[in-house]
Amino acid sequence: MKIAVLNGPNLNLLGQREPELYGTTTLVDIEQQMQTLAEALRVELTFGQYNGEGELVTALQAADRVDGVILNAAAYTHTSIALRDAVLAIRPPVWGVHLTDPSTREDFRRIDYLADVVFNQTVGRGPEGYLVALQSLIQTLRTEG
Ligand code: DQA
Repeated sequence: MKIAVLNGPNLNLLGQREPELYGTTTLVDIEQQMQTLAEALRVELTFGQYNGEGELVTALQAADRVDGVILNAAAYTHTSIALRDAVLAIRPPVWGVHLTDPSTREDFRRIDYLADVVFNQTVGRGPEGYLVALQSLIQTLRTEG
């Protein structure tokens, strides 16, 4: 089983970026923890982080070949119809992740173009949310497959 883990803009700065909101764990730390879990569960992961909207759309299109996708679209969640369309266009289920719960933050973060098109999402659980999402997605794929 193959799962693509895609992260959007500014998530490469986790660790230094607004630590009071996002904590001090880096994206590399998160990816290492996911990799350890994936090996234990015998799943193959690929990782990508993109600051550009178009790059993220292209990466989602390329993920058509994997079994599932974990996506933190970051700020594009609240702005991008192109990303929404890409999620709808690809075959594998997409599991959304947000470190914080955007619905409890500024009003503009309540607009979410992805919430109703992702298979499911994990929000507000910090870095651990990626591990929860990975486990949940694998369980879903194994149950359905
Ligand atoms: C985020 C929430 C978004 O609103 C924000 O723009 C981010 C990070 C999160 O993981 O909590 O960049 O996706």
